[in-house]
Amino acid sequence: MPMWGSRFDKSTDELVQRLNASLPFDKRLYADDITASIVWSSGLEKAGVLTRQEAQSIKDGLETIRAEFDASKFNFHVNDEDIHTAVERRLVEIVGPVGVKLHTGRNRNDQVATDFRLWVMRACNRLRNHIGTLQKALLESAETNMNTVMPGYTHLQPAQPITWGHWALSHFWPLDRDQQRITQTHARAAILPLGSGALAGSAFDINRNDLADSLGFNAVSQNSLDAVSDRDFAADFLFSAAMIGIHLSRLSEQLILFTSAEFEFVELDDAYATGSSLLPQKKNPDTLELTRGKSGRLIGNLTGLLATLKGLPSAYDKDLQEDKEPLFDADDTVELALQVMSGVVSTMQLRPEKMAARIVPTLFSTDLADYLVERNVPFREAHEIVGKVVRHAEERGMSIDELSLTELQTFSTYFTKNVIEVFDVKTALMRRTLEGGTAPNALLQQLRLARSSISQ
Ligand code: ARG
Repeated sequence: MPMWGSRFDKSTDELVQRLNASLPFDKRLYADDITASIVWSSGLEKAGVLTRQEAQSIKDGLETIRAEFDASKFNFHVNDEDIHTAVERRLVEIVGPVGVKLHTGRNRNDQVATDFRLWVMRACNRLRNHIGTLQKALLESAETNMNTVMPGYTHLQPAQPITWGHWALSHFWPLDRDQQRITQTHARAAILPLGSGALAGSAFDINRNDLADSLGFNAVSQNSLDAVSDRDFAADFLFSAAMIGIHLSRLSEQLILFTSAEFEFVELDDAYATGSSLLPQKKNPDTLELTRGKSGRLIGNLTGLLATLKGLPSAYDKDLQEDKEPLFDADDTVELALQVMSGVVSTMQLRPEKMAARIVPTLFSTDLADYLVERNVPFREAHEIVGKVVRHAEERGMSIDELSLTELQTFSTYFTKNVIEVFDVKTALMRRTLEGGTAPNALLQQLRLARSSISQ
């Protein structure tokens, strides 16, 4: 008989039991359930509900159960509906009737909300580490190749010269924002619902702030109805995971392009590439394609939960049991993707010579326009002049730096002999010295900030 079965004459239909059961997935909360229960038993003892010995034997029993789970030796029972009932059932088996006293003043509604928040808080800590590792890999790549010149693209069209260091850090900062988001997600999860009971609060004299301190929460919830149904923290977590997924997907896409024969800027390490069953010459970036693909399910997990939450009437509804699987899946997915991406980035080989070969004179068109601006030509006009120069060179099958000075001067008399200096890549890079620019000095400053950001 389930723990709530006394008012029922019949047992539930087997299919209903299957529908109702969350154990297959929520067993993942066992450690958090046990930790929260140990703290709750201390609260009950302080409130005079449990004697010292009773609380102690409950705690010992819970630690035994934790050890059973840790060793994968916990035996589930057919009637175990979810992780909370399974732990309680086992507790009574181990410590006898005193075990049922643990549930005094508590309900699975505030219990599951507490366990889930604890789980999210731990998941946030793990995520921060995994993101940090990838950030380090990108930072190292940027430092090693800070002077490696490559074309920068907009609309996937070659635009202006940049450095690999600048490019690599362009994927560092989105992860920095992810770190901030995860920190905020952790803070929002760290509000304790325990003590809210089923919906109206607990009738026993429990010090909720003590519970919060012992469990590492920052504060206690202020409304019991809200507390048992608030899953904003879960949605926050899923949004953070989806956003990381999107960042990894964009990085993947870029590296897929860079590893292609059309670019050849990057070669993946054998450990992070796969072969084709048909085409022996192929080295496929499946790793990156999967990372890109998995961002789809991360977005799906978020939208799924939001749809579940929408329109739920006040306090706990069983729909809320649907909150866990998307987070577990998101956590597994994003942790794996982050680790694999760290491996990809730290082992890939760059091909600076291939990048350098793509630094064609048209990439200096803006510099050519700037050259005129420095001689007092308004930028719009300069832009038009250079546009004409580019077309003229194209029509003659030449590159713009091959045009003679006399030819250039037919477009503007402001062109003089030193115009040829515009086509020097170092000069072009050096000109972009503002914060956030690709110039070596600006990049050094950026690297310093990036380094200090991950060491915090
Ligand atoms: N397994 C349930 C969940 O995950 C636990 C809460 C059950 N509460 C209830 N009133 N039936 O949401």
